[in-house]
Amino acid sequence: MTFTLGADAALRKPLQIGALSTENRLFMAPLTRSRADADGTPSALAAEYYAQRAQAGLIISEATAVCEQANGAYMNTPGIYTDRQQDRWADIASAVHRAGGKMFVQLWHVGRMAHPEIGGFEAVAPSPIAADMVTHTPTGKKPLPVPRALTADEIASIVGQFRSAARRAVDAGMDGVEIHSANGYLLHEFLSDVVNQRTDAYGGSPQNRARFAAEVVEAVADEIGAERVGLRISPGNTAGDMSEVDQVSAYEALLCRIKSLHIGYLHIVAEPSSESFAALRTQWEGTLVLNTPRTVDSDIETLENLAKWGVISAAAVGRAFLANPDLVTRLESGAELNEPDVATFYAPGPAGYIDYPTLDELAAAQPA
Ligand SMILES: Cc1cc2nc3c(=O)[nH]c(=O)nc-3n(C[C@H](O)[C@H](O)[C@H](O)COP(=O)(O)O)c2cc1C
Repeated sequence: MTFTLGADAALRKPLQIGALSTENRLFMAPLTRSRADADGTPSALAAEYYAQRAQAGLIISEATAVCEQANGAYMNTPGIYTDRQQDRWADIASAVHRAGGKMFVQLWHVGRMAHPEIGGFEAVAPSPIAADMVTHTPTGKKPLPVPRALTADEIASIVGQFRSAARRAVDAGMDGVEIHSANGYLLHEFLSDVVNQRTDAYGGSPQNRARFAAEVVEAVADEIGAERVGLRISPGNTAGDMSEVDQVSAYEALLCRIKSLHIGYLHIVAEPSSESFAALRTQWEGTLVLNTPRTVDSDIETLENLAKWGVISAAAVGRAFLANPDLVTRLESGAELNEPDVATFYAPGPAGYIDYPTLDELAAAQPA
């Protein structure tokens, strides 16, 4: 039985993020779909895919590279650093807006998750410590290489690339950007007290480990306006062989440094009962979006309760939106949900991408 969001549900209420008014507080979490062209231009089907999901209060796009070097972890992931890519993002923004939706582009640099056979560039990271993992390259599964430690000058240049990518996103008509500082990619790697072993201004103390992510937030906020900026963090998440002994201090330092900017929202991927969520929740007075890595049904009920009690401002859900373009309608009526098809998460083409049926389409397909 699907959980029903009744008429007075907290997640059905609109939310103000700067000048942006979201219809509801059920956001679509970022989901890599690996259907971009080889040059990092989003798929020609992406406008339809995202517009189908315009019921989400806010759509957060799949992770999108800020420069060519940032894009070497997986094949067919998009970027936003060329005019062709920007034009396709503009098509997507228009389609989502025409359908009544709102959308942020998630900006990332993959850091040590890169493999030279995928993007053609060496992997870079805070320190030369490899993720103990294999990855899919065009010539089969290969171990991830030992990355090269970034210099301070390179860090400054990547900050600039986040800034330029954010400018392109807004110029393309997007409502804002989400900075990806989660899930074992570059900015998360710097936050870690295990993966980051630097001895310069970007390593060591929590403030130093938070410096890179903070500088990105500050630069992007300066470029497009703080209220158009979201920040995603995932304290303690072990994705990408990530490890953090202290899962709180660097995040506290980051939030403390950026809080006076009043960015659009903070997006935390965490169990609501975790120590890190509790600690960071008390630090953050702004808009807070939570994404819990749990099963679809219990997620929504837990998230609705947290929204009702004022613990979170909005909830982000991933796989449920992937499989249910009309998720909000379904939750409002307690209808059954389509099950996500894992086999097509990252497969090319329209199957499992733009062909998940809505309730209306299912009804129309019934024999009279
Ligand atoms: C197919 C797939 C792709 C994902 N891609 C991204 C991504 O690009 N960026 C990101 O921050 N998280 C990504 N995630 C994580 C999701 O945003 C989310 O945290 C996770 O799916 C748990 O939420 P859910 O239970 O509502 O699906 C991905 C997850 C899945 C299943």
